[in-house]
Amino acid sequence: MAHVLHVSASPGGEASRSNALANAFLDAWRNAHPGDTHETVDVWKLDLPEFDASMIAAKFAVLRTQDATPGQQAQWERAVKVSRQFNQADVYVFSVPMWNYGLPYRLKHYIDVVTLPGQNWRWSRSEGYQPLLSGKRAFLMVSSAGDFAEGAVTQYEDFQKPYMRQWLRFLGIELAGEVALAPTLTDPEHLARVRDEAIARAEELAARS
Ligand SMILES: Cc1cc2nc3c(=O)[nH]c(=O)nc-3n(C[C@H](O)[C@H](O)[C@H](O)COP(=O)(O)O)c2cc1C
Repeated sequence: MAHVLHVSASPGGEASRSNALANAFLDAWRNAHPGDTHETVDVWKLDLPEFDASMIAAKFAVLRTQDATPGQQAQWERAVKVSRQFNQADVYVFSVPMWNYGLPYRLKHYIDVVTLPGQNWRWSRSEGYQPLLSGKRAFLMVSSAGDFAEGAVTQYEDFQKPYMRQWLRFLGIELAGEVALAPTLTDPEHLARVRDEAIARAEELAARS
């Protein structure tokens, strides 16, 4: 039995294409893995702490000098709490629209808060960076107005999927599948076909994973 965490990065709610893709994936996943537990984090609704100068000072006070004030301890604990909720999942499903060739800023904020030394990665002089989330799997459900598929001329303009791949690799999470619903900036008939095909691919991926 696995715990599945859906991280939703579109503010589009019911109208969101990436969420529609993730929901199709999750429905098929529930059929294939009826015993799993599920949780959703909507990064647009989450009360995320600012990762500002004061949070960075709290981080170094807690991790290095061991003389953090009670205020700094409490501030660091807010980030650790969000990170722990993320780290406890076994399977991750990310629904991510492309924004300005990369990620929506709210998802980047979430990533900056959850990615913490000692919680999901560590560094030592002898070993360098070590991921702490090995053995977990992730599935990426993305959408964009343009087509950034492998082999397309626009492939190297995509900083959305490559960023997610690198971040997951850094934490040791295996990227077990990706589905893109794209291009969405197209005529209605083509969009309907693109959507149906992407949803079928998401369902098939969930059923065989
Ligand atoms: C602020 C913003 C920036 C965007 N930037 C891009 C972009 O750089 N490239 C692209 O192809 N589409 C871009 N789009 C379009 C979305 O990626 C596209 O509409 C996608 O299908 C939205 O997914 P969603 O319905 O899950 O939110 C942008 C949309 C918004 C709102």
